[in-house]
Amino acid sequence: MDNLIPVRFPAASEVPINELIAARWSPRAFDPEREVAPELLARVFEAARWAPSCFNEQPWEYLVFTGEDPEARERARQTLSEGNAWARKAPVLAFSVTRKHFGQNGKNNRFSSYDVGQATVLAALQAVELGLVFHQMAGYSRKALAEHYPLPEDHAYKAAIAIGYPGDPATLTEQQREDESRRQPRRPRGDFLHFNGWGG
Ligand SMILES: Cc1cc2nc3c(=O)[nH]c(=O)nc-3n(C[C@H](O)[C@H](O)[C@H](O)COP(=O)(O)O)c2cc1C
Repeated sequence: MDNLIPVRFPAASEVPINELIAARWSPRAFDPEREVAPELLARVFEAARWAPSCFNEQPWEYLVFTGEDPEARERARQTLSEGNAWARKAPVLAFSVTRKHFGQNGKNNRFSSYDVGQATVLAALQAVELGLVFHQMAGYSRKALAEHYPLPEDHAYKAAIAIGYPGDPATLTEQQREDESRRQPRRPRGDFLHFNGWGG
């Protein structure tokens, strides 16, 4: 893990966890000058490929914009909400997409969003190992994106993902810097873990 980004705040886990998991967080400052090499981006999305999924359906797609097509990337950036304007500096902007029905029998896949989430978090962990920031976002206009990039039938846009190298936090607003001065809080493990029955 030579390239691991300087871990400003590893997760204060209650018990030891894998260091990649502890190092992953969602910063907002990107270096706008530093593109992500295609071979590194390939490794990030290769990790997604190895995610588990219901019936091994692999119901994920990623629409990825890079500096290879600056106009397309700019169009994609413009779909981000104002609250996520910081992500316009990210050299890579991706959108996760899921297929809603099983390809093999046409039945509703209740786990399609779940599975794209699983694939995406594996990509996030791989990004951390490569020294990349990987920040998922709900805040963008699916309508605007779909106007430029209509989805194949039965697919739905899920999260936007900003990927790139860490940048200067001084480029952020005061509120954002404040938000990023510490890790986001977590529920205690005892709150969500129930052994042998609810309330256990
Ligand atoms: C599906 C999803 C949507 C999110 N949407 C946004 C968003 O629109 N803007 C933002 O700044 N962060 C967004 N986040 C990041 C979360 O706020 C962040 O993951 C959470 O606060 C935990 O912080 P951490 O990732 O730094 O540990 C999103 C994360 C996920 C998984």
